[in-house]
Amino acid sequence: LEAMNITIEEDLSLPKAERRKIRSAYDAVDKRVKVSGWVHRLRNNKSVVFIILRDGTGFLQTVLTGDLARSYQIVNLTLETTITLYGTIKVVPESKSAPGGVELFVDYFEIVGPAPSGENAFTNRVQENADPSILLDQRHLMLRGETLSAVMKVRAALMKSIRRVYDEEGLTEVNPPCMVQTQVEGGSTLFKLDYYGEEAFLTQSSQLYLETCLAALGDVYCIQESFRAEKSHTRRHLSEYTHIEAELCFLDFDDLLSHIERVITKTIQYVLEDPVAGPLVKKLNPNFQAPQLPFKRMEYKDAIEWLKEHGIKNEEDKEFQFGDDIAEAAERKMTDTIGVPILLTRFPLEIKSFYMKRCDDDKRVTESVDVLMPTVGEITGGSMRIDDTEELMAGFKREGIDPAPYYWFIDQRKYGTCPHGGYGLGTERILAWLCDRFTVRDCSLYPRFSGRCKP
Ligand code: 4AD
Repeated sequence: LEAMNITIEEDLSLPKAERRKIRSAYDAVDKRVKVSGWVHRLRNNKSVVFIILRDGTGFLQTVLTGDLARSYQIVNLTLETTITLYGTIKVVPESKSAPGGVELFVDYFEIVGPAPSGENAFTNRVQENADPSILLDQRHLMLRGETLSAVMKVRAALMKSIRRVYDEEGLTEVNPPCMVQTQVEGGSTLFKLDYYGEEAFLTQSSQLYLETCLAALGDVYCIQESFRAEKSHTRRHLSEYTHIEAELCFLDFDDLLSHIERVITKTIQYVLEDPVAGPLVKKLNPNFQAPQLPFKRMEYKDAIEWLKEHGIKNEEDKEFQFGDDIAEAAERKMTDTIGVPILLTRFPLEIKSFYMKRCDDDKRVTESVDVLMPTVGEITGGSMRIDDTEELMAGFKREGIDPAPYYWFIDQRKYGTCPHGGYGLGTERILAWLCDRFTVRDCSLYPRFSGRCKP
């Protein structure tokens, strides 16, 4: 294309341009505005140049004609250059579509920061069909894409919505520590660290700390990173994930189950009602079915029968038996076949953690629950907790855990015990389900898993 040596100057006789973010430019019809952002897409028809501008709040179709379109800077414009565009917002004709239903007719521009062309061009750094690990090296640039940024916006709406639901449910938010000296979910996935010469770990779950808050603050929740040294690479395991955990007191197992299904259902409802996130979920996951109350309830023992009847085998490729862990593949097959959210309850004592309360009517099993969603499987794990000191000590013994570092946790049973229970929700797993992503890695800003700790 032939670039002309044209000097571009602002016509000072025009009305003063008002600075707008793209989101708020949509309703500035017939107003002169200035909008800054990144060149997201670019189409050059010689006499007319179309730029789709992106600023994180939205996308704006813009049109440059005449000298502007023929100027050196526009002819040589590259994707991801930052630019400020001045002009008038016009409604697009009914036959055309554009974000927000408007176009910006540009009368002046300023380049803020150019992006490279040629070998270093943005499109060479993030090639859609490149190897996933190469794309993960370029995560900081990948985030600018429409899909990943949409998932991150839904994620923000999820956080906002769940906080709103917890507020409605009367829970208080707390911020437990990440650096701890106790385990919650088994020693094999602990990340160890040297804490001024003492052994410490990155937290696996804030549950034990939440339990200590009950007597001080009543029902509580936290949104905190949890860390798991999961050596195997799966679609749904990260080494660091955002754990939404809640703990409630003076309730029974049934109350806990109703609370969990209510929190999930309302949170999803609020996300879908959100003006930003709702349409994004529709785009990412057009077939998404909002969960309906009440969820299907299924006991572990009945799940074992279901798996047997459907010829699904356990991890050793044998028929399932009572006592087997229902691992990821089998769990997902069952959930996908049943096709609705399931509250899977009453897991055997041996396959669960030290703190879980046994059922009164069957001492082999615990008052525990996993919430299973079609396409991802488990998104939530929870239980009623042992509230008796002796029984808790037996739990530590069974799991071979030295109770000494847990004195503060044991004290909860000593100084006025109470029936209580709670659960943890995996943020990235909820998002994988909600946004129809193949893996939780697509739902984390900078995913961490074995072999990956950058950028
Ligand atoms: O089932 P989990 O291990 O339960 C606990 O940690 C309890 N202490 C929580 C509590 O009762 N307060 O983990 C809870 C949820 C899982 O259902 C899953 O959604 C998510 O956390 N999760 C993971 N998400 C991503 N990567 C991992 N490695 C995860 N491990 C668990």
